[in-house]
Amino acid sequence: MTIRHFLTLNDFSLDELVALVEHAIRLKRDLKQGKTRQTLAGKTLAMIFEKSSTRTRVSFETAMNQLGGMAIFLSPHDTQLGRGEPMEDTARVLSKMVDAVMVRTFEHDKLVRFAGHADIPVINGLSDSYHPCQLLADIQTYMEYRGSLTGCTVAWLGDGNNMCHSYINAAHLLGFRINVACPDQYRPDPGAVDLDRDNVLITSDPEAAVSGADLVVTDVWASMGQEAEEADRRAIFAPYQASQRLMSLADKDALFMHCLPAHRGDEVAAGVIDGPQSVVWEEAGNRLHAQKALLEFLLINGEW
Ligand code: CP
Ligand code: NVA
Repeated sequence: MTIRHFLTLNDFSLDELVALVEHAIRLKRDLKQGKTRQTLAGKTLAMIFEKSSTRTRVSFETAMNQLGGMAIFLSPHDTQLGRGEPMEDTARVLSKMVDAVMVRTFEHDKLVRFAGHADIPVINGLSDSYHPCQLLADIQTYMEYRGSLTGCTVAWLGDGNNMCHSYINAAHLLGFRINVACPDQYRPDPGAVDLDRDNVLITSDPEAAVSGADLVVTDVWASMGQEAEEADRRAIFAPYQASQRLMSLADKDALFMHCLPAHRGDEVAAGVIDGPQSVVWEEAGNRLHAQKALLEFLLINGEW
């Protein structure tokens, strides 16, 4: 079986992505009907977390359990990674013992190097540059509520960060328009994503970005590793808050998403995240189903 990694959404074709999300929706329905599944019996996922996590850890661990396998949590604090053992060596060693590895780290290049030395599938559980697993859940959630994102308009408010990059990748793959509203100095990185496409608008005007949008998305203003910049960023990003006023400019049926954790009163108004257009809890829950589909895609070649 050919080894496939999932480091960015670009590792998938459009057909694969759509099939995976459709499978996630089926898995969710089956689970609700009490159907159990042992497709990953005997298989082990190692999960390296160099940054904190609630959703990613719990969803991957639960996913492996529900599919009959198991997951091992590894942190730099109590593994040799924290004492300087190179990622490359860790990748070689884990390849001899487990069936797949999920890595949450800082520099995306570390993940690329890890994957380059692993002969098992490697999953990006978030890097400074991308968060593709979250996009699987977001695409699934939009599909469940409204159908395909293809042809839609998504408004991204705030930092041109890892989540924003993955949204831009999704826009290219699925064929939707993305309007990114951000302060000039926090634009998405043209080294990480292709910004020179007709479906991408980068603006410093949040009203223009949300106007008529089908989906409004935001994320924290200071990502993990940027804690020291929090106060400065709070002032700079204030006009980009997902507020009720901005939501009223979007399409009347627009949904609101946030990968979480959220800061009410900063990047999102409480009335928006806790309001009728918000689907953030379903979005968070879909991490489980989307990643079960991802694990089956990578570990049993999508033979579902
Ligand atoms: N959205 C997300 O990845 O959450 P965690 O940081 O809790 O894993
Ligand atoms: N941009 C955020 C996403 C958290 C899930 C971060 O990297 O901290």
